[in-house]
Amino acid sequence: MKPSRSWMPLLAVCALLLAVLAPQAAGPAHAQGVVDAMRGPTPIANEAKAPLLYPTENKDIRRTRNYTMQPPTIPHKIDGYQLDKDFNRCMFCHARTRTEETQAIPVSITHYMDRNNNVLADVSPRRYFCTQCHVPQADAKPLVGNSFVDVEQLLKRKPGTKGSSN
Ligand code: HEC
Ligand code: HEC
Repeated sequence: MKPSRSWMPLLAVCALLLAVLAPQAAGPAHAQGVVDAMRGPTPIANEAKAPLLYPTENKDIRRTRNYTMQPPTIPHKIDGYQLDKDFNRCMFCHARTRTEETQAIPVSITHYMDRNNNVLADVSPRRYFCTQCHVPQADAKPLVGNSFVDVEQLLKRKPGTKGSSN
């Protein structure tokens, strides 16, 4: 028996569709596809449009840490604070000896420890440049999605459910 050819018209339609769509997919539209969610579709060789600058949040309210060893975010403005080898404006308020006057939270003991856990008299060189780890925040819409779940919530999940502790 001769095989049925009833699928031939469908194949023809698919081929036509492919012919119409393929050049677009392989052309500039594809080359300009989203390279990076923050950069958008701007091609690598071109300069992306700078996003709007949002004012720094300055509410002076300490934010929740998402996990125990998270460097807390900075709840105040740091515009114009000198932070170089000559002067550390952050330590002017956050040093152990300055907190009575400034009411700033003193940097924790880890900031005085070297990599062998020896406690030094002054802030450790590896913790000197505060903004390596601590950053101010802006009240802006997040540029990328985030599905982070706090470990506290993971621990509360019923055993056996996805992501539970046992
Ligand atoms: C004029 C004093 C002053 C200066 C300078 C200063 N801070 Fe603060 N900082 C504070 C005070 C006071 C708080 C407590 C919350 C508040 O009032 O904003 C604080 C809070 C913080 C916190 C939050 C701590 C937590 O546990 O949530 C971080 C992190 C921080 N500052 C980092 C910095 C960094 C980094 C710099 C330098 C770029 C800096 N601060 C400069 C006074 C200061
Ligand atoms: C290498 C990363 C790193 C650098 C650099 C660093 N920190 Fe931290 N900071 C942390 C982490 C992590 C924590 C939370 C855990 C801890 O206390 O070590 C923290 C905690 C803090 C806290 C909260 C302390 C508390 O007891 O709640 C303050 C205030 C702070 N840092 C200020 C500063 C300042 C000011 C500087 C610069 C002199 C600085 N940090 C440099 C990582 C860093």
